[in-house]
Amino acid sequence: MADDKRNRPYSPVGYTPARYEPSRFEPSRFAGAPYVPGATMQQNLIGKINIKDAKVAVVGLGYVGLPLAVEIAAAGFEVLGLDLSDAVVAGVNRGDSHVPDVPAALVRELVEQGKLRATTDYADLVDADCVSICVPTPLTEAKEPDISFIAAAVDGILPTLSEGKLVVLESTTYPGTTEELIANRIEREQGLKVGEQVFVAFSPERTDPGNPTWKTKNTPKVLGGVTTACAEAARSLYAAVIEKVHVVGSAREAETVKLLENTFRAVNIGLVNEFMLMCDRLGIDVWNVIQAASTKPFGFMPFYPGPGIGGHCIPLDPMYMAWKAKSVDFYSRFIELATDINGNMPRFVVTKLADLLNDRERSLKGSRVLILGLAYKKNVGDVRESPGLEVYRLLREKGARVEFHDPLAEGFDSTPEGELKSSPIDAGELESFDAAVLVTDHDDFDYERIAREAKLVLDCRNAFGVREIANEKVFKL
Ligand SMILES: NC(=O)c1ccc[n+]([C@@H]2O[C@H](COP(=O)([O-])OP(=O)(O)OC[C@H]3O[C@@H](n4cnc5c(N)ncnc54)[C@H](O)[C@@H]3O)[C@@H](O)[C@H]2O)c1
Repeated sequence: MADDKRNRPYSPVGYTPARYEPSRFEPSRFAGAPYVPGATMQQNLIGKINIKDAKVAVVGLGYVGLPLAVEIAAAGFEVLGLDLSDAVVAGVNRGDSHVPDVPAALVRELVEQGKLRATTDYADLVDADCVSICVPTPLTEAKEPDISFIAAAVDGILPTLSEGKLVVLESTTYPGTTEELIANRIEREQGLKVGEQVFVAFSPERTDPGNPTWKTKNTPKVLGGVTTACAEAARSLYAAVIEKVHVVGSAREAETVKLLENTFRAVNIGLVNEFMLMCDRLGIDVWNVIQAASTKPFGFMPFYPGPGIGGHCIPLDPMYMAWKAKSVDFYSRFIELATDINGNMPRFVVTKLADLLNDRERSLKGSRVLILGLAYKKNVGDVRESPGLEVYRLLREKGARVEFHDPLAEGFDSTPEGELKSSPIDAGELESFDAAVLVTDHDDFDYERIAREAKLVLDCRNAFGVREIANEKVFKL
């Protein structure tokens, strides 16, 4: 008989993933009773957490880890941040913040109170009761999951583990990672029983950099344990820090929740980008169409076209799901299609700009072009995976003389030029460019001035439209 992987029961070594049983989750049962005689390891841990006697370590102090570390410390726990970067660790210990959403004043206050400190040394984790892992999960050159950062973090954590500890993975990853890379290794290499002696869970981070409303504390947190006891332990920690915690049936479910959220965005952006391409061909203003469709109070949710998708999440996360699905002979057509459409948007931007210049009897080759906004989204300085980088590269490939201006993203490494810096656009500068492409609609731009002074503007975000700035030199995607 053929080996049908879909019908194979899932059986991780050494334990049985359990379903979440709501009636068993009563953290208040343990409040104020950290060292109950005869209590289980899990009860002791929850007791320690409930009186905030538990020490928490956060591994990876980036866009996700630092806000989380600060939130846990602000909730009253003693927090140790661990990062491989000396600069990041020194900055935190000095009371600085390298993450725009985290105020330096808050970091300083927590450091001064002795609630937060950072280290580069994994040996320091020996005192931690709970460890959250927030390291990067990029793609390899072949666009496959690169889980080497998680594996390296686990290498560092394992020798520091002992009975009664909790490990939570926060990095976005494919279903099964928490069990395969963490729980199985703990049982195999440390000989500790997961769910009885140590507790392992997955809780996806939902950070939205630059979002003024939804921060780590008030964004509901999903989590799933490798076993029910693991989920209960992890919930007690997060419920003490985050306003709302939603527990799902397993770590694998929690891993998949994050992938659904970002696949949903990638696919819907892909759909609206394709819709824009059709409207462009038909001579219809897609932005007006979306605005009108948004007046429907039910059954429609607006997504907007643009120069492509960027950042650490939306372009990458769906690939984690598609990669895992291939292991059971499932090929996701939606993910592939959205990746194709979104990935080709920078090409469309460049073609559209070439057409606009052509109408003015100019070629892209030799033209001076200014990219306005290089970050992957507005009001942040992060250029990782930004479509602006691809627009830059394609314009260069076509022979344009390209510069960029971004008040938040000061520079990036380009091949073969090395590090490129944001050009100032002081008085008189804008007129010296043949065209400007607004890739990222930062609020800080002076849109009136750009429309007045630039010779030609291609607006990839309808930023001029929403500000009701219209003239014959500004064109929408
Ligand atoms: N940035 C976001 O908006 C966002 C949102 C939700 C989820 N995520 C996910 O969260 C995870 C972290 O993303 P990020 O944006 O915070 O990454 P980041 O690059 O901003 O930060 C990661 C940090 O981890 C450190 N690091 C790397 N390897 C390490 C190791 N072995 N030990 C200790 N520290 C190590 C790096 O020095 C860096 O400071 C990723 O899986 C990402 O997909 C990111």
